Amino acid sequence: MKSLLQKIASNTETIGVIGLGYVGLPLAVNFAQAGVKVIGFDKSQSKVDKINQGENYIKDIRDAVLREVVGNIKLTATTDFTRIKECDALLICVPTPLDKFRKPDMSYIESACIAIGQNMKPGTFISLESTTYPTTTEEFMLPLIEESSKQNPLVPERCPEQRSVSKGREAVEGNNYNNDNPTTPKTTTFRHGTDFWLAYSPERVDPGNTSFHTKNTPKVLGAITPEGLEIGEKIYSKAIDQLHLVSSPKVAEMVKILENTYRLVNISLINELALLSGKMGIDIWEVIEAAKTKPFGFQAFYPGPGIGGHCIPLDPFYLEHIAKKYDFDLSMIHTAGHINMRMPHYMVIKISTALNSHKKSVNGSKILFLGVAYKPNIDDARESPALEIIDIISRKGAVVSYHDPYIPQVVETHYSASLRGASLQSIELTPETLHDADCVVITTNHSAFDAEMIQQHARLIVDLRNVIKDAGEDVFKL
Ligand SMILES: NC(=O)c1ccc[n+]([C@@H]2O[C@H](COP(=O)([O-])OP(=O)(O)OC[C@H]3O[C@@H](n4cnc5c(N)ncnc54)[C@H](O)[C@@H]3O)[C@@H](O)[C@H]2O)c1
Repeated sequence: MKSLLQKIASNTETIGVIGLGYVGLPLAVNFAQAGVKVIGFDKSQSKVDKINQGENYIKDIRDAVLREVVGNIKLTATTDFTRIKECDALLICVPTPLDKFRKPDMSYIESACIAIGQNMKPGTFISLESTTYPTTTEEFMLPLIEESSKQNPLVPERCPEQRSVSKGREAVEGNNYNNDNPTTPKTTTFRHGTDFWLAYSPERVDPGNTSFHTKNTPKVLGAITPEGLEIGEKIYSKAIDQLHLVSSPKVAEMVKILENTYRLVNISLINELALLSGKMGIDIWEVIEAAKTKPFGFQAFYPGPGIGGHCIPLDPFYLEHIAKKYDFDLSMIHTAGHINMRMPHYMVIKISTALNSHKKSVNGSKILFLGVAYKPNIDDARESPALEIIDIISRKGAVVSYHDPYIPQVVETHYSASLRGASLQSIELTPETLHDADCVVITTNHSAFDAEMIQQHARLIVDLRNVIKDAGEDVFKL
C-alpha cells in the first residue's frame, strides 16, 4: 500500500480503464488530462484503433482534447489484457445489460474480473463503476478475482499462516510475500486487503449535459477496507472535483440504484398523470409549469413516450434480482416499471387517434418519426421508447421512416425486432419529407428541431415532447 500511495503522490501511477464507452472514455480522458498515465482496455479493436489515432467517438468529449492526451501519450488504448499488470489502479466501466429473460447479464463484469485476476500485479486498486445491484463488489467480484488469480504468474507466494494476519497494512508494507521453506504449502491466490483493494464508485455521467460532466459531478466512493477507501480517494481526487465517501461498496451500489429508481418512479408518476390529463382535456405541460413555481417540495419531471437509455429501464431489474434473494417484493418499483412499459402502446393509440381524425388507418399510412435517441441532443438509442413505438406501428402495417441528426441508422434490437436483420436509415428533414408523411411524430426533443418549420409543413403532428408550443387543430400532444 505504501508504494502505491507513494506513486500516487508523485503522479507516477498508471491507471487502467476497462471499457471505453460513454462512461469509460470520458473518465480515461479526464485522468489523462490530470497528467496521469492511462491505459484504456476494450474488447473492440475498432474503438481501440480509433482512440490510438486520436479519433473521437463520444460526443461529450472534445476532439481536440482526445487528440491532445493521445498525442502526449498520456492515453493509449489496447485490446491486450495482459497489460493489466502495468496498471496500479483499474477502473471498470463495462456494460451491465439484461439477458433475454430480463435478468442481470453479469458476463461483462465477470470477464473483466477474470482478466484482472489473471493479469494484475500485487498492490492493485480496483474500482467498479458500472451500475449493478448492491453486494456485487463484495459477493460477486471479490471471490471471482481471487479465484482467477490462481492462474496469475505474479501471484505472491506466502505460507498459509500469513493469511490470517494480512488484512492490515503491516503485511503489505513489510512485503512478506516469499517463504523460503520449500516444504511449507504456499497460498496461490491474491488476497483482498493485502494484494489488492476493491471499491465501488458509481458513474453518474449524464450524456449531453452541458453543465455537469465527469469532472464536476460529485462522485460517491465506498471500499471494503479503510485502506482501499484511502487509496481510492487519493486516486479519484486527481480527476474528480468532489468525492463523497461512504462506509461500504454496498452503500455506494444502493446510492446509484436509489438515484435511478427515483427518476423511474417520478417519470412514471408524471406519465400516468399525463395520460389522465389527456383524457380530461387538461394540458399536463401547463400543469407542470405552474407546479414548478412552488419553491420547495416539488421537482419537475416531464412526461414522454417512455423511459430509455442504458440505466433507468434496466436498474429495477438489477434491484429485483437481489431483492428476491431477501424475499422482498418491490411493489412501488414494479408499478412504476409497469406504467412505463405500457407508454409506447399508449403512444400508438394516440397516433392512431390522430390518423383517425384525418380519416386514415395506421395500416398503409406514412409515418415520419422525429428523433430515435432516448433523450435530447445525444446519439444513444439504447432502450429508446421511439424504437418500440416504431416496431409496434410497423407491425400494424404503417410505412415508417425517421429523422435523427445524431443517429444515422437503426439496426435490429429486441425493441426493433420487426427489422429482422435489416436496418432503417435516417432520412433528411425537409419541407417535402415533412409534407409527404401522413403523420409526423415527435419522439425526441432534439434542440436542432425547428418547431415552426415542422408545424408549417407537416399535415398532422403527434407531439410527445412538447416541442410545438402553439398547438392547432392538427397537432395532438401528450
Ligand atoms: N451511458 C450512461 O449514461 C451511463 C451513466 C452512468 C452509468 N452507466 C453505467 O456504466 C456502465 C457502462 O456503460 P456505457 O454507457 O459506458 O456502456 P458502453 O456500451 O458505451 O461502453 C462499454 C464498453 O465496454 C466494452 N467492453 C465490454 N466488455 C468488455 C470487457 N470485458 N473488457 C473491456 N471492455 C469491454 C465495450 O466494447 C464498450 O466499448 C454500465 O453499467 C452503465 O449502466 C452508464
